[in-house]
This record gives sequence, structure tokens and C-alpha cells, in this order.
Amino acid sequence: MAAGKGTRLKSKHPKVLHEVGGKPLLAHVIAAATQVVPAQDVYAIIGHEAERVRQAVASSGVKFVEQKPQKGTGHALMVARDALSGYDQVIVLYGDAPLITPATITHLRDFHAAKRAAMTILTGRLSDPTGYGRVLRKNSKSDEVQAIVEEKAATPAQKKIHEINSGTYAFAVARLFRHIDKLSADNAHAEFYLTDMAAILRKAKERVVAVAATDPNEVLGGNTRAELVEIDQHLRFAKCQRLLHDGVTIFYPQTCVIDADVMIGADTVIEPFVQILGNSRVGSDCRIRSYSVIRNTIIADGVLVLPGCIMDDSHIEKNAVVGPYSRLRPGSEIGEGAHVGNFVETKKTRLGKGSKANHLSYLGDAEIGEGVNVGAGTITCNYDGLQKHTTVIEDGVFVGSDTTLVAPVRVAKGAYIGAASCITDDVPEDSLAIGRARQIVKEGWMKQKREARAKAGKT
Ligand code: UD1
Ligand code: CA
Repeated sequence: MAAGKGTRLKSKHPKVLHEVGGKPLLAHVIAAATQVVPAQDVYAIIGHEAERVRQAVASSGVKFVEQKPQKGTGHALMVARDALSGYDQVIVLYGDAPLITPATITHLRDFHAAKRAAMTILTGRLSDPTGYGRVLRKNSKSDEVQAIVEEKAATPAQKKIHEINSGTYAFAVARLFRHIDKLSADNAHAEFYLTDMAAILRKAKERVVAVAATDPNEVLGGNTRAELVEIDQHLRFAKCQRLLHDGVTIFYPQTCVIDADVMIGADTVIEPFVQILGNSRVGSDCRIRSYSVIRNTIIADGVLVLPGCIMDDSHIEKNAVVGPYSRLRPGSEIGEGAHVGNFVETKKTRLGKGSKANHLSYLGDAEIGEGVNVGAGTITCNYDGLQKHTTVIEDGVFVGSDTTLVAPVRVAKGAYIGAASCITDDVPEDSLAIGRARQIVKEGWMKQKREARAKAGKT
């Protein structure tokens, strides 16, 4: 269910698209669901900002049902009646509870089947149950449930119950829809609460049971910013724990932000305050030093990332050294054993095996071969005000410091460029190119100046 607005977030974005662990709430729920049943049997109920929500998760292959207007969680299921007509059982998941695992969904499904229940509620025992619906069991030892009461309708005694409704349920489809029209919107929000189905089915002598999640954190829902941050921390913590278990060292994991889909090889060391995001992959035996932000970047084995680097959609081959303070923009490919150093920015640029660009450079739209030395302060002038052009620097070239390469331009194999050159024309193989004004020396010039000033009585 993903049709609600999420009023409590005070956001212009729909709640289920708010991110935890680096991806939207709803994407987590869909990922769990599609590990239990095929995507074509998963229906996302969308309504508020339906198109945005649909686009954000369309690639998962799930189907969509529109709920417009949104008149509550019970109403959301009423709207899905036709979609569900071909099924015996349905599992309902709330799009704002992203920590649910496939194992727990499977356990709920099996428990529901074994009990032959009309409705099975997944519950959680929380130390602070504030805000959640409370589950009223027949008695403390029984599986059977009398009702769910929402926080706003709960009596002080009911508020003391710590067992909460997670919003994950299994229903027998025919029995659900036989009674769903009995839901009323006679409550604090004037909505049809799906939770009322528990009491309605009970009254109709149907079996309603509850099963508690083993890990109570799994049922946490994100209605407020504070809850979203708490869920995010759970995800990050769990991610770091898995990586530690798999042989990755993470110093001060509580300072690192590592997204759910990131992969890191054994014997890699992650220093404090590092972010590794999106679908980044880091090989083994790497060291990622502090304050780097790495997004959608592939890093091979044995790479050293020195402090303060920013990388997006880039590729670094093995044993390369990057940083400190390097910025790899999308399309940067750093070859095996290559070095990119202090304050070097690359964009859509390939730096070949063993090549070095160690200081203060901008390399954009450049194809740089192997064993090239790019001197300090080298700039590729890739933009003429209208279009981008390519700079090609072939194998073994030496580019002197403070060179500007006005693209399109090619420097052929083994050539040498004198420092401070402005290179506008292609440079042939093994040649020397110097493109700067020749130095002028005027001997005695300063001495004459001083003497002239002394004569005029100035010091
Ligand atoms: C709900 C439960 C509460 C439970 C809690 C668990 C109800 C009435 N209450 O409360 O017992 O403890 O979840 O997190 O169900 N949605 C729709 N269409 C609507 C309304 C909501 O699709 O018309 C979706 C929302 O997008 C959301 C989910 O249903 O993903 C839950 O709705 P929400 O308003 O967050 O319910 P809670 O107040 O958290
Ligand atoms: Ca909620």
C-alpha cells in the first residue's frame, strides 16, 4: 500500500519515495515482496502522486492499482478487489515499513496457512509502542485476536499494550471481501481502517490470529522524519554488520554511510566518515581513507583512495591511487596503477595504465594513454562555448606543467610538451612542442631602475 500522502513528514514528496538506506521506502518493501512471490503477483496500490511513485518503482516489474481518492487502508484493499479476484490468499504490506524481510513474510504466510485463518496479523513487541495500533489478543497465551485499536481510539489501559500491529497481514481473499463492505469510516480520520477487519471477521466467526516478528525492528514504520532517520540507522548498522562479517574493516561504522546495494571485498579497510552509495562496488585489499563520497563507482582490488575524494559513475582499475581531494565526475576511467592526485578533476576521461595526473588539473573529454605524465596545472580546454571536444594524449607522452590543450587536439606517442604551453595543433610522434612566448632577459634593467630612482631622490 503506497497511496497515502504522508502528512506527518511535512513534505512535498510522497512518503513512500522518501529514502532510507539509499533507496525509497517502497523499493525496500517491493524488494522483500518479490523475493517471496514473482513480481507479476505483486500489486502496488498508488494514489497520491501516483505517476511519480509508479515511475520510481516501475523497473521492479510489479503491477499497479490506483486508489483515488485515498480513503484509508481498508479502502485501499476495496480498490484492489478486482486485481485480487484470481487469488486465494493475499499478503498486505505497508509501503512505509521497509525493514520487513522475505523470511518474515514467508513465516507469516505459512503460519496463516497452518491456522487456516481468515486474517493473520504480523505484530511486534515494541518498548515504545506510541503511535501504532495495539493488538488485543483473546488472552496472553492465545494466537487469537479480538481486535486492533488505533492509538487515537485506545483507552489508557489499551495504550499500555506493547504488542503492535505492523500493518503486514495475510488474508483469505474470499473471506476478506465477503465482509469488507462492513468497514465504516466512523473514526478520528473519517477513513476506512483495514485494522477494523480484525473485529469484523471475529464477529462473523472467522478466525483472526496474530504472529509476532522475532526481530521487533522489522515492523518499524516511518511516518515522521525522526522515524525515518531511526530506520535509516537500522539499515546502515545492519549493512555494516554484514560487511564486517564478510571481512571488511570499517572503523567507526556509525560514522559511515553505506547503501544497501554496495558490495565491498574482504580485507578492504574503510576509515571513518566515508560514504559509499548507490550501486558502487569496491574490490578487496583497498583502503578508503576518511571523508570520501563514492557513488555508483566501481573500484577494483588494491586501490588506495586518499582523504577527501568525490566520485560519481566512475571506474577505477586495480592498484590505482586517487586523492587526496580528487574529483572523479561521471565517465572517469582510471587505469591500472594510475595516479590521480591533489585537486585533480576528471570528467568523461580515460587515464591509461600507469599514467599520472598528480596535481591541480582539469581533464575533461580526454583519452589519455599508458605511461603518460600529466604535469601540474594541466587543463584540457574541452568546451568552445558551443560544443565539447576531445583531447587525445597517446602512450608515453610527457605533458609539462601548466599546459593548456585546446581540443580537439591530439598529442601522438612519445611526444614531449614544454611547460606552460598552449597546444592548439596536433603534436606528431616523438616530437617536442613548445607553445609559449620566448623568454626575454634584459640585463641590468633593474639596476638602471634603482639608480634612476636614487637620482630623483626617491628611496
Ligand atoms: C497503520 C495502522 C496501524 C499500524 C501502523 C503500522 C491502519 C488504520 N493503521 O497506521 O494499526 O500500527 O500502520 O505502521 O491501518 N495508505 C494507502 N491508502 C490510504 C491510506 C494509507 O495506500 O488511503 C498506505 C500508506 O501509503 C502507507 C500505509 O498505507 O504506506 C499505512 O498508512 P499510514 O497512514 O501510514 O498508517 P498508520 O497511521 O501508520
Ligand atoms: Ca505508517
